[in-house]
Amino acid sequence: MSVHVQNSRMTTAKLRQMKANGEKIAMLTGYDFTLASLVDEAGIDMILVGDSASNVVCGNQYTLPITVDEMIFLTKGVVRAAQHSLVVCDMPFGSYQVSEEEAVRNAIKILKESGCDAVKLEGGEEILPAIRHMIQSGVPVMGHLGLTPQSVNQFGGYGLRAKEEAEAEKLLHDAKLLDEAGCFSIVLEKIPAALAEKVTKAVSCPVIGIGAGNDCDGQVLVLHDMLGLNQGFKPKFLRHFAHLAEEVKSAVSSYINAVKDQSFPSAEESY
Ligand code: KIV
Repeated sequence: MSVHVQNSRMTTAKLRQMKANGEKIAMLTGYDFTLASLVDEAGIDMILVGDSASNVVCGNQYTLPITVDEMIFLTKGVVRAAQHSLVVCDMPFGSYQVSEEEAVRNAIKILKESGCDAVKLEGGEEILPAIRHMIQSGVPVMGHLGLTPQSVNQFGGYGLRAKEEAEAEKLLHDAKLLDEAGCFSIVLEKIPAALAEKVTKAVSCPVIGIGAGNDCDGQVLVLHDMLGLNQGFKPKFLRHFAHLAEEVKSAVSSYINAVKDQSFPSAEESY
């Protein structure tokens, strides 16, 4: 029996081809079936089930508390929604730092149980053995350098990274190592645009930026941020492509008024 695989689906090979052709890659986060369906239908190339779910879905201050099982639960809904886009699931804090074996076991668990296409993890040379082992085991890996929110307690905040020469050199070195290890893509978060351009030219895999300027191979934003749902969060790199917080509050207050004044439900809306 043969299983039909839709050839319109995004693949890591197509992403590499896009880099080679100079075609920009658009990525957004997604955390649930309904919104991910809209994002996929709109034609996004990749959906990242980011551990930012810890913030925007669960209301935590940091990404650190979210677990592997919680990431799998969210990713399953996104995978069901994604007809075209490639789905990447973030490996949460603690799931890949303890040992190579545990990292590979968790990566395989995420792939098997959620049905996603790839995993993403934060860090460079220090997690290279785990990344190599995952890739050798058949798990496609996306790297993440620059501002790595799982290390917020080490950095002491979410400021711009790699401003100084030494950190910039280490980041470029790490990006080359991730590329050579076989990462299919690398996210660069909140670093100077000139450094992001240098990295993008230095590696063969597609580089996806967030707060990393316009010369990366593609861009990623947190869906709730770019839709203007996340009130009060407006770093310089973020553009609001909609203002849904106002829309949602206005719809809800119209509903409340209609319930209170008994104009809802009407005779037409009743059985
Ligand atoms: O968790 C996340 O949403 C991310 C993106 C900001 C790249 O890692």
